[in-house]
Order: sequence, then C-alpha cells, then structure tokens
Amino acid sequence: MQVTRATFDEVMVPNYNPAAIIPVRGEGSRLWDQDGREYIDFAGGIAVNCLGHCHPAVVAALKEQADRLWHLSNVYTNEPALRLARKLVDATFADRVFFANSGGEANEAALKLARRWAVDHFGPEKDQIIAFERAFHGRTFFTVTVGGQPAYAEGFGPRPGGVDHVPYNDLAALEAAMSGRTCAVVAEPLQGEGGIIDPAPGFLAGVRELCDRHNALLIFDEVQTGVGRTGHLYAYEGAGVTPDILSSAKALGAGFPIGAMLTTAAIAGSFKVGTHGSTYGGNPLACAVGETVLDLINTPEVLDGVKARGERFRATLEAINAEHRVFSEIRGQGLLIGAALAPAYAGRARDFLNAALDAGTMVLVAGADVIRFAPSLVIPEADIDEGMRRFAAGVAAVAAPAAAAS
Ligand SMILES: Cc1ncc(COP(=O)(O)O)c(C=O)c1O
Repeated sequence: MQVTRATFDEVMVPNYNPAAIIPVRGEGSRLWDQDGREYIDFAGGIAVNCLGHCHPAVVAALKEQADRLWHLSNVYTNEPALRLARKLVDATFADRVFFANSGGEANEAALKLARRWAVDHFGPEKDQIIAFERAFHGRTFFTVTVGGQPAYAEGFGPRPGGVDHVPYNDLAALEAAMSGRTCAVVAEPLQGEGGIIDPAPGFLAGVRELCDRHNALLIFDEVQTGVGRTGHLYAYEGAGVTPDILSSAKALGAGFPIGAMLTTAAIAGSFKVGTHGSTYGGNPLACAVGETVLDLINTPEVLDGVKARGERFRATLEAINAEHRVFSEIRGQGLLIGAALAPAYAGRARDFLNAALDAGTMVLVAGADVIRFAPSLVIPEADIDEGMRRFAAGVAAVAAPAAAAS
C-alpha cells in the first residue's frame, strides 16, 4: 500500500502537523526518507534515540526477548523488569521502581504517589503541588495541569485542583508559595520544552531546602534530562541535589516506549497493593531494551563523551553565530542544547528548523524562540561536523534575506 504525507490528513486525528517528508530507515545518526534522501539527526526523536537508530546491541536485545516472551501483565513479574529495576536502584538514589510506558505516565505515578504519601503521613489537607511556569510534564490531564504552559490544559473542562505555579529560578516566589500544606514540588532539573532553561546556581539546592523545611517531597522530572543526556546518568547527580521521586522515560528505551518512577523505600510504601497500576508497565520487551540501554550508557566513556560532544556542538554554534549573529545565547548541558534566537529573529525558530531540514539536518525547537539539539549520545564526530555544516547552510538561508532587508 502506498502511503504519503497526504495520507496523514486523510486518516489521522489532526493534533500533529508532521513534516512533509516521511523517514523510512535509520542507522546511527542518519535517516533516509521515502525518496532515499539522507538526513543527519540532531533531533533524536525528541531526546529519545540516545544510541542513534537501530543500535545493533539494542536491536539484538529486542529480538532475543521477542523470541522468548512478549507480555505477561503485572499479575506476574518478569526477569527483564527485575533486572532493569535492580540496575536502576544500584545506579541511583532510589530503592524502588515503578514502570510505566511514557514520561507522562511516570509523572502521573509520581504525582499520585506524592499525594498518597502526604495523606498517609500528614492527612488530606496536605495536597498542594507546586510546579514551575513553562514546565512540561506530559499530556495526561493531571500532568498538563501541573505543567506550566496553561494553553495545554485549557479547553478540557475542570482541571484537578491543588496545583500552583511559580516562576522557575525564583526561590523567593517558591518560598512565599510554600507552607505545611505543600505536598510536593516538581521540577525539571533543566527545563526542556520550556526553552532549555538552565537552573540558576543554587536554585535546585534551595528548592531541596524548602521541601525539607515544609516536609514536602521533591520530584525531579528527568524524562528529558535522564539517561546520560546531560553527561551524568541523571542530571540530579551533576546538580548535587537528590530528589525524593524521579521520573524517567524517553532515552531509557532509546526509542522503545518505557517510563519509570524511582523513589525511596519509605515513600514507595504508600503505593500499597492495588493503589496504582498499568497493564503494560514493566513489559518484558521494553525492559529488555531498557536494561541494554542502561548498560551501554552508564559508563564513564559514554558519559564523558556526552560532555565532549556537547562542547563540540557549542563551539560550532558559537562559530556559526560569529558569522551570522542569529543567536543571543547558547544554553543547556551535555547534549541537550538550546540556541536562543536574537531579538531580530524572535518567533522564527521553526523557520530555522525547516531551513535546516531542507539542507539535510534535523533539529528541534523549544518554543518559538529556541532551536534545540538532542542528538544521539554516541553520535560520531564526523556526523556532528557534517550535520553542523548543513545546519549552517540552513542558518545562512534564513539569515541572508533578513540581513539584506535590514
Ligand atoms: C520533562 C518532560 N516530562 C514529561 C514529558 C512527557 O513524556 P511523554 O511524551 O513520554 O509522555 C516530556 C516530553 O517531552 C518531557 O520533556
């Protein structure tokens, strides 16, 4: 059956507006579309394809598990889930793991657990969840409500209550909003969708301190920053601030859907039998992939490599900017990088994305004013350089008419 981009408009719900091309094959950091045209992938499926496309070890893990056992439900546990949970516990602050299928679901579990923990230990009045403006935590109704972009939660009727927002990097505002009623504060340790916003020095430690003062749980949403993206297995390690609950997804499956919520034994105790669940969470296929991904990423070589590759990206972006003066700032950590557009290009991030795609490099945006890069964590230097050459051609195409007009 022949399908094209036009088919999308004929048969799909119109909540997405995908690109005109349809990628059909991937290998490492390269993709090919239906016409055989090749692209360098700096988008990584939105910070998911941490090992590029079709990494041989991940493909082998999936195939091996596919021949053995696909699915059981949580009526039974399974070996890949237990192995992955053991490795996550050994590698992090956490003692307990709950598996889900996506980042939104991992956050949903985190928020529900925090509420239940507060009810168990302090009573139902302790129900306030504080989140940050511009935060993104997923698309379930609870997580869009907690997310800091109101447009995503509007138009769906009454929202879950007890949720307040304060500006990111504003400890005074957080302090003013918190009280004994605060059940949890949820934060991305580096805001992703909101525009690649780094935490200010001392901000995350200050949030931790305020949570401790008010007996509130600190939830770090590491769906985008986790599994090596910042050059640490999880960004909290680099920040030196340990959360009570952490959500992970995206890169944990390197492209196979999986989510996980990590926490301590004491807090986990509030999810008693029957309080929460998922048919697919902890699926053997997903966990076999996740175990292999964790083995491959959680090594000093790969994590140091992320930092080195990140520097290479930044140096090239600075060089592009020296020529074209299109960026006001290069932000982010490791291989989660944002190039914020200069005022003259305000609102035009998508124009740069499209020009880069035309030139053969896939990038992302984070809002209308930031171009985002979230490539494979093991992208070869040659692919960085070639992808950046093409990206620079895209920048030149957008900048040249603008420069000529000014
Ligand atoms: C920080 C963060 N949390 C949660 C999510 C939602 O993850 P998912 O789309 O897998 O539900 C995302 C997705 O972009 C994210 O960046």
